[in-house]
Amino acid sequence: MSGSNGPGSSGGRPNLPKLKFKKQEGKGIKADSSISLPSPIVTCLLNIGDNQYPFDMDDLEEKQLLGAGAYGKVIQYKHKPSNSMVAVKRVRINMDNLLIGELAVLEEAMKRGKCEFIVCFYGSLKCEGEVLICMELMKYSMDKITENVYAIPSRIPEKQLMHISYSIVQGLHYVKTVLNVIHRDVKPSNMLIGLHGEVKICDFGISGKLIDSIAKTHDVGCRPYMAPERLQPDEDSSGYGILSDVWSFGISLYEMSTGTFPYGHFKNAFEQVTRVVEGDAPKLPEDFPYSDCCKDIVHSCLRKNQYERPNYVQLLKDKFLKDYKLANDDMAAWIKTLTL
Ligand SMILES: Nc1ncnc2c1ncn2[C@@H]1O[C@H](COP(=O)(O)OP(=O)(O)O)[C@@H](O)[C@H]1O
Ligand SMILES: [Mg+2]
Repeated sequence: MSGSNGPGSSGGRPNLPKLKFKKQEGKGIKADSSISLPSPIVTCLLNIGDNQYPFDMDDLEEKQLLGAGAYGKVIQYKHKPSNSMVAVKRVRINMDNLLIGELAVLEEAMKRGKCEFIVCFYGSLKCEGEVLICMELMKYSMDKITENVYAIPSRIPEKQLMHISYSIVQGLHYVKTVLNVIHRDVKPSNMLIGLHGEVKICDFGISGKLIDSIAKTHDVGCRPYMAPERLQPDEDSSGYGILSDVWSFGISLYEMSTGTFPYGHFKNAFEQVTRVVEGDAPKLPEDFPYSDCCKDIVHSCLRKNQYERPNYVQLLKDKFLKDYKLANDDMAAWIKTLTL
């Protein structure tokens, strides 16, 4: 991933009610005529910096593919009217109304304004069988950093890892308490770092139902971070709670600490269920070169019994995690040492 961040890269948009509306003459929004998603769920507008623009694909100049996930791809574009770089997630839609609730969450996040620990949402559009979700462009995702650092081989320093953890838990806590949403897709690729060292969580609004629908197809490759209680065949999906996200956070931490996925590769869904539900929880080796406090955080998040795991408030109170809070500048300096 490369490219400079846009003006909104440091967070949300203050003063939303005072936004200027920039209408471009002769440029209609290319919305799909078969749109069934009610306005304002699909915003058809972009709020970038202090301005509002029609969400018009003609205004976007494609720069590069940033990555592809289970249900779409993310592309970097230049938004010409605002002269800023943005990331657009293009999600294929083949199920009616799948995204309504999720886009509403992003809308809510946008209205509430700045939270420094969540990726900023600019607007959305339904267009030719896809929903386009425009957001703040970030520099790196933790899956790519992890892959790169451990390939050298090297290690993510404990300080940086604890700082990342603290920021991500802050973001998840905000999403839960302010937006009233459980993330349901916590994993390193949804933990992003900006050019200036800011650490943010993304995909909190759109992943839930999509992940559930993918899980039903038994595509195990898409759900390796799922908690044991989520993999129980008779588990009622309505019982999903934040403690399942805490497990996924623990698996992510394990992976970012070691550079390897704790369970290796699952051959099939049966093997995944057997090993995660019936096997022991992953544990970092005794002689692992991080402090005991750090290892304790990983292990407490990976308790098989969800009620023994810490919640976000407890994690945020953890003195060790708190003490490792770094300045964004220090994170930025570390990022500059990486050769991604
Ligand atoms: N806002 C963003 N800025 C920069 N890169 C992003 C952004 N959102 C996602 N990406 C990149 O795109 C990749 C694919 O994202 P996504 O489609 O959500 O799939 P997944 O998270 O399942 O890997 C991510 O791994 C990340 O590297
Ligand atoms: Mg993602």
